[in-house]
Amino acid sequence: MIKNKAIWLFGLSGAGKTTLARQISETYEKQNIRTIVLDGDILRNGINKGLGFSREDRSENVRRIAEICKLMLQVDIVPIVAAITPYESDRIAVKKTIGENKLVLVHVKCSIDICEARDPKGLYAQVRKGTIKNFTGITDTYEGTNVASITINTERDSIDASINGLLECLSNKIEI
Ligand code: PPS
Ligand code: MG
Repeated sequence: MIKNKAIWLFGLSGAGKTTLARQISETYEKQNIRTIVLDGDILRNGINKGLGFSREDRSENVRRIAEICKLMLQVDIVPIVAAITPYESDRIAVKKTIGENKLVLVHVKCSIDICEARDPKGLYAQVRKGTIKNFTGITDTYEGTNVASITINTERDSIDASINGLLECLSNKIEI
């Protein structure tokens, strides 16, 4: 029996959300568990096209992703979300929308200094040049959290250790 739950990874840009989401998906798919990675960054080119990075637009972005999760769960697909989700009230709203017993909220934790040093997409450099405004953690809000049921520290742990740690935590929370 699949106890169907959405896995929602949130954290700063460059914290490792996308990498973890893809790896978790790959691992589950090999176990014949159907998954879908819902990456905020990618959805913003499609269903969430037109949304920017104001507080309202970020909330709307997160709200829509939560609604997609609900739909996916109805057809037994495990949604794996990678989205900054910078506001605690939105994280709480996600819990309410999807249902506490159908969601695992994962904080992908990494300090802003390390995210900036990694700068995988060169965005932090652009922020410092002033070409990107309202950038999470630098010129826009990233709220602390009390709602995560799993915290993965990608600053302290290697990618492999982070993935294995997350898979282990998930196996205690999701019955597959
Ligand atoms: S949110 O806050 O949850 O609605 O954001 P999300 O949908 O996850 O989108 C974040 C990705 O958009 C890119 N990007 C920005 N992020 C934060 N702030 C600003 N101003 C911004 N502009 C563009 C960025 O690449 C994020 O992707 P990740 O994978 O997190 O780096
Ligand atoms: Mg990403």
